[in-house]
Amino acid sequence: MGKLHHIIEAQQFDRRALQEIFLSVDKMADWMVQEDMWMKKEAQVSLSAEEKKERQRSRLEMQRGVKGKRMFSVFYQSSTRTRASFETAMKILGGEVAVSFSSEQEFSNTARKKALEDTVRGLGLLFPHVIVLRHPHAGAAERAKEVSSGVPIINAGDGPNQHPTQAIADLYTIRNLFKQIDGLSIAFVGNLFSSREIRSLCYLLAEYDVDIYAVSPDMLKLRQDVRDCLNKAAGVRLFEVDNLEEIVGKVKVLYQARIPGKASGGDTFVVEDQMFSYREIKKRYTINDQVLKKLLKGSIVMDLSFRPEDSLDLKNVPLVCYTQIQNGLFVRMALLKMILDSI
Ligand code: CP
Repeated sequence: MGKLHHIIEAQQFDRRALQEIFLSVDKMADWMVQEDMWMKKEAQVSLSAEEKKERQRSRLEMQRGVKGKRMFSVFYQSSTRTRASFETAMKILGGEVAVSFSSEQEFSNTARKKALEDTVRGLGLLFPHVIVLRHPHAGAAERAKEVSSGVPIINAGDGPNQHPTQAIADLYTIRNLFKQIDGLSIAFVGNLFSSREIRSLCYLLAEYDVDIYAVSPDMLKLRQDVRDCLNKAAGVRLFEVDNLEEIVGKVKVLYQARIPGKASGGDTFVVEDQMFSYREIKKRYTINDQVLKKLLKGSIVMDLSFRPEDSLDLKNVPLVCYTQIQNGLFVRMALLKMILDSI
């Protein structure tokens, strides 16, 4: 892979680039495990001179290129996991989170009214080394990139368009649990039209040999651009179906897309002027006990919006959402280091 600068969309990453990123993520994960061990040991007994030296050496290596650099965390939409993992990653690597906005309310009236471009230009004058941007509109990260005077932009979610770093974390999770991605069958279920994580993940999966089952009502299916990409990809077989129970016995990965009504607490939600009943969509397109009974042994369930009160018996769900979240930290550490090391 050439130098990594902006991260805007998943299509930037081919199979080779992903392999390179995964190796770098492996290093971050190993380092964090080791660092955590040293910290715990140090709290009880002091480290030997040898251990102290080794700890210092590996910390210097991990933080090289990032230490002392500034990240601006510019979130026009709220976020828990993405923002927390980027900010934690930066701090672990010895960098600073110099600016951190966490929702549109935190922007001044002027900034809210001004074009995103003006805000990015203005922030660029404050000497950031990288800007992490979440925005409600599709294409916002690309717009920010166009006006950024050399400061790398990382897309942390732009409307329903893309969430490339989450997709890399999800793919890394799959690769780690199954040791390889080729040969897997993966089902996405729910509102596939609006899921930026799944859009980005589909673009990444187009680089591999996989079967993809897209399970959704017709009006909420994957957007045309993603379907075109998957249909053209040499190694992908795409099956669009609307009955989860029929296909669940064929897949190793079952990825639940967020159903919007759940978050807003409403009975209905609207996508592209079309109204949907939350209850109806949830009944037919979420993972329930019937579905779980048919899951293949060794399969996993990925669901970033998972809440224990959603009636599933936790013991029976091979849920990996906590692994997804932790891998999100390691992935963001690796990506920040790759970007910042080269500027
Ligand atoms: N992964 C993800 O997008 O979660 P947040 O909305 O909490 O950032």
